[in-house]
Amino acid sequence: FPSLKAAYPGLRMGTTLNLDEVYGRDLRGGEIIRHHFSAISPENLLKWESAQPQPGRFAFEAADRYVELGERNGQFIVGHALVWHSQTPAWVFQNADGSPASRDTLLARMRNHIHTVVGRYRGRIGGWDVVNEALDEDGTLRRSPWLNIIGPDFIAQAFRFANEADPQAELYYNDYSLENPAKRAGAVRLIRDLQRQGVRVTAVGLQGHHKMDWPTIAAEDSTITAFADLGVKVAITELDIDVLPRVVPGNTAEISARGEAAGCNCESNPYVLGMPDSVQQALAQRYAQFFDLYRRRSDVVKRVTFWGVSDDDSWLNDWPLRGRTNHPLLFGWRGEPKAAFFAVLRAA
Ligand code: XIL
Repeated sequence: FPSLKAAYPGLRMGTTLNLDEVYGRDLRGGEIIRHHFSAISPENLLKWESAQPQPGRFAFEAADRYVELGERNGQFIVGHALVWHSQTPAWVFQNADGSPASRDTLLARMRNHIHTVVGRYRGRIGGWDVVNEALDEDGTLRRSPWLNIIGPDFIAQAFRFANEADPQAELYYNDYSLENPAKRAGAVRLIRDLQRQGVRVTAVGLQGHHKMDWPTIAAEDSTITAFADLGVKVAITELDIDVLPRVVPGNTAEISARGEAAGCNCESNPYVLGMPDSVQQALAQRYAQFFDLYRRRSDVVKRVTFWGVSDDDSWLNDWPLRGRTNHPLLFGWRGEPKAAFFAVLRAA
């Protein structure tokens, strides 16, 4: 098959790698990664809990492999994620006795973590998600230990530390649902604020966890414009399109448990046996529309990264409900190129 990266020379074409792919245990995935992609992101192996599971004890074996693999393949290598409320061990925010850490302690830990991790791959990892998901849906800062302990300037501090550790690396603010007006407005205020303080920000990462009916192409387009107007670039950093019905908020644990007991979350999992052709075609059309947009806006949109190589890799099989069978990517459960893959090639 023709390659995605060759079809879109104006974009870095990316995918995220899990441990099987990094360690070469997934030959089928490895082949797809080499042939189709010019950029890679680490799904979990550079998150705080992986990179520094215990105080001062860093673990870089998987990350070293990941970076070596990207270099062998000649790919642009992304780092994800330095400062986030999730997948960060509890000790980061606590003293040895369990009491909350002070602002100074947490800032020192943040600085040490960023300097150590970014510094190790200086000149090799080309761009970092420095701060991930700091905003709430209403555009205000998310209540997290980072905000509670350090205060709102934790974001600027993280970018400063990253810039010190690698002044050449691209530095990203990354978040989801920035297509929603209130959250987007919050992100625009945040970036403007950083720029006013002279903090270097290269691009905003739109995660791109899309649904079949959200966001509209127009909303995606105006979101790209909102950040272009600030003089920053945009990257689509975690693209997938959830084909399953929305889960009613609030009852996910209950449905997960019931589904596990029954062997299937069937009530919200209609495509356990595969996607009907109508859904294949609808997904293909939706992907083609997004790629048509990303290609047209490639003066601003510099990278499009899928969150997973093939459907069997996707985190959406377990989120927000465990045990779902989703089909959100271009390659299917057996690694086969789907109608969506051919539609993306055609949209080039
Ligand atoms: C997800 C991974 O894909 C899962 O394997 C893990 O269990 C949870 O995190 N936003 C992000 C990503 O920034 O790091 C998340 O990745 C998906 C949502």
